[in-house]
Amino acid sequence: MNVEGSTDGASEVLRVNNLSKNYGGLKALDSVSFAVNRGEVLALVGDNGAGKSTLVKALSGAQPPDSGSIESGGQPLQLRTPRDADAAGIGCLHQGLGLVDSLNVPENVFLGRELQIKRLGFLRQLDHASMRAKTIELLERFGIHLPLLNEPVVRLSGGQRQTIAISRLLLQDVSVVIMDEPMAALGVEEGRRVLELVSNMRDQGISIIVISHNLEHVFQIADRIAVLKNGQLVDVVAIADTTRDAVVKMITFGSTH
Ligand SMILES: Nc1ncnc2c1ncn2[C@@H]1O[C@H](COP(=O)(O)OP(=O)(O)OP(=O)(O)O)[C@@H](O)[C@H]1O
Ligand SMILES: [Mg+2]
Repeated sequence: MNVEGSTDGASEVLRVNNLSKNYGGLKALDSVSFAVNRGEVLALVGDNGAGKSTLVKALSGAQPPDSGSIESGGQPLQLRTPRDADAAGIGCLHQGLGLVDSLNVPENVFLGRELQIKRLGFLRQLDHASMRAKTIELLERFGIHLPLLNEPVVRLSGGQRQTIAISRLLLQDVSVVIMDEPMAALGVEEGRRVLELVSNMRDQGISIIVISHNLEHVFQIADRIAVLKNGQLVDVVAIADTTRDAVVKMITFGSTH
């Protein structure tokens, strides 16, 4: 883990260079550059309208930037669609989560990538046993406890549903997970579990970019903080080298003075 302000090529999983995006005359992103290290939690903070979601949309292929580049391991990435981001190992947890309420946990984890089994050599059926076993394996690997695997997920809590959506991403060997306000709608205990899951993902070498308005959470979980204001990157600071007051000043005034 690299908690210094600098980044070196070896530990870097993602780099954005001079990313810009205009909406009409408005600069939603104005030449933003920074890097994400392997196995770090990078919090993305800033006031409403600072450009956080616009940046996430560029990184998840949902809405390409007007200019600038995104690279991984020195290679340029063309992220024109969410599928491109998938292929590059970048998983994005959207606010809607994208779960199907009537399906159970393994069915949601494998949604769109269902495992099948051949019977009598030609009949194809869903391989529920394998999906269940692989789901349990995945949940154990990341220390996730979900007691009701066979229940429709509509019966599960907000935090549990969040966990299932994250498990879907983890199924595809992601190297970067982006989360837009994951704790916003959760209670204290559920929020704590999501923080724990983020820390387990980091321990397994996954990098996490997390947007949060809650600086208490940010200081609990992040290694570094990237501050955006009016589409510009104010600074990227290591948690160890800053304070909440300093971050609030950067968010509000664009500097610590
Ligand atoms: N599709 C769009 N059309 C026009 N303007 C947009 C569009 N999307 C975002 N914007 C504008 O771009 C700026 C950045 O918006 P963005 O959603 O990235 O902010 P944010 O930091 O995610 O804010 P919040 O904390 O409220 O989610 C805002 O001024 C916003 O109004
Ligand atoms: Mg937003």
